[in-house]
Parts: sequence; structure tokens; C-alpha cells
Amino acid sequence: MTHALRVLVFLLLTLALPVTGFGADKKPVVAVLATGGTIAGGAESDTATIGYKAAVFGVDKLLAAVPSLGRVADIRAEQVFQLASENMTPAHWLVLGKRVNQALKDPDVAGVVITHGTDTLEETAYFLNLTVRSDKPVVITGSMRPATAISADGPINLFNAVCLAASPEARGKGVFILMNDTIFAARDTTKTNTFRTDTFAAPDTGPLGVMQLGRPLFHRLPVRAHTVSTEFDIATLTSLPQVEILYGYAGSHPAQVTGALATGARGIVNAGTGNGSLPDASKQAFAGASAKGVVVVRASRTGSGVVTRNGEVDDDALGFVAAGNLTAQKARVLLALALTVTADRARIQKMFDTY
Ligand code: SIN
Repeated sequence: MTHALRVLVFLLLTLALPVTGFGADKKPVVAVLATGGTIAGGAESDTATIGYKAAVFGVDKLLAAVPSLGRVADIRAEQVFQLASENMTPAHWLVLGKRVNQALKDPDVAGVVITHGTDTLEETAYFLNLTVRSDKPVVITGSMRPATAISADGPINLFNAVCLAASPEARGKGVFILMNDTIFAARDTTKTNTFRTDTFAAPDTGPLGVMQLGRPLFHRLPVRAHTVSTEFDIATLTSLPQVEILYGYAGSHPAQVTGALATGARGIVNAGTGNGSLPDASKQAFAGASAKGVVVVRASRTGSGVVTRNGEVDDDALGFVAAGNLTAQKARVLLALALTVTADRARIQKMFDTY
């Protein structure tokens, strides 16, 4: 080969490398949006796994605890909030949802990870599942032990979450909750224990899969509509309609409903006993609210199972909506979004059957 030919071949290969990716160190870009929680929490001793302060460390410190992330993805980190998740509000969901949608619009970004407190993580996850406008992976994670604890679960959860968000196999499957090596669907998953690291569970459906050696192994897929196939658009929303949750118990007082109406609620979700049953003493109060135009959704306090339309209560006659197997806190998220579109009960029931 002549020298001129060798130069020509070298130039052609050099030009081709960035296009083919062959030989180039091109890692997927993952945006990590930090919001606080125990994963960013600290305690005075490394054995204190309770009684610590949530949301004290910034995203840079969380990432620094996982040097292996550097071989998985190029990280774009951002501190969106710094709070304990009991202080999350629908206003925070809107800010975060818009930020996620903006990040995913960037063609360079493969996926998004959100670090979050576990107490209300499931609500933020379901909100995003209904409002993200992309089929790229969105993974929400947290930890049960603070960053300062021996055997802290935050670093491995963050590592797995970034691997999942960077994975092409994770596309089009809705928003994930990633905790304890386990991949969950945002819709079906709830926190079930106050302190254990295996606290998240999907009681009716089980998890979607597991992470092993940084790779997702999916066992099943979510079937309910999510992300790009929902009708909810938050781009221009600045607030969500007020929706209250009431709790059913033996001897519950009808004045609960009066209290909910006093907040200006446009919707009430009742976490009722059993199959969403209502005591006779309260039924008329709920029916009165419904007659005034407030949308009443019957959910269950049991934590799993389907609330059956017209099962325990004549929903058709009273204008109620049945929550299916959504927990009350998830039903509240869906009802608030539904009310941005319509107040029609039949249409809202259809949304509960769809999402
Ligand atoms: C929180 O939800 O912010 C505190 C509890 C936790 O993250 O586990």
C-alpha cells in the first residue's frame, strides 16, 4: 500500500468512527434529577438507619458514592428539589414532570433517573407514568437507609436505576420504580413497610423483573396505557384540581365529607372498607357531594384487589366512580389529572378502566 493510500484509508476510518460508534467510547447519556429523600439523607452514626435527616446531600455526593456509573453512562445531574417526600405536592409533580419531558426531548438523552424519598415516591411515579411524553425509560428510585449508613441501599439502587434508564430494552414500558434490585411498574407498586429495604411491592401483579449485573431481566409487561398513550398534557398546567382522600373505618363520621368540601375539593377519593363499602351514615354525605358536582371515587383501604363498579354501592345511581385496583393515593393522582380534562363521570370511569 502506498503512503498516499494509507493516509486515505486512515482518514476514511477516522471519519467513519464517530458515525458507526465502532471503537468510540460512546456511552448513553442519562439525566439524573435529584429531589431529596433518604437516599440523600444523613445521620450522626453509621448504624442509625432511623431518626436521620432526609434530603441533606446534593446530587454530586450521591453520584460520587457510585464511581462505577462512569462506565455505564454519561451523567447529566441536576438538583431539582431538596426535600423529604412527605413535603411533595402536586405543584412539585408539575415542575418535575415538565423537567422530565424537557430532558427527554434532547435526542442525546437515553433516559431519566429521578432520586426521591420513598414515602410518596409511588405517587410521583404514577403521575409521571400518566404525563411523560416519551417512550424513553424513566426510572424513579430512592433508599430506605440514609447515605451515611453501613449497607446503605442508595448506591446500588442508583447504579441499577441508571443501568435501567440506559437500557434500550426498557423503552416503551412506562415509568419504573427501581428498588432492592427489583423493577416495578409505577402504576401497580406501593410502599408496604415502614423501614425494610424490600418495602416496595406490587400486591396484585408482582414486579416486572429484576436487575442483574446492571442488566434488566423482564418477566412481564404492564398492560395499562401509559406515557405516550395517555390523554394528559401538563405542558400548560400551572396547578392541579384539589382532590381529597378520606379514610373509611367503623364509625366514620359524615362530617369528613363536609371537611373535604371546605378545602374547595373538586374530587374526593374514599379509601373505603373492603370492596369500597360506605357506611349508611356517610353514603348520603358522599351522594350530596356528588350531586353538587364533586367527583367521588370509591377505592379500598385493604391495599390490594379491585373495587367493583356497582358492587357494594350503586355507583350508577349515586354518580360515583370505582377505582378498580388503584390505591387511594394513586386514584387521587388519576382523578386530579382526569379533572383537568373533564368532570363527566362516565368518561372518568373509562379513564380508571384504562390507566
Ligand atoms: C422521604 O420520603 O423523603 C423520607 C423517607 C425515605 O426516603 O425513605
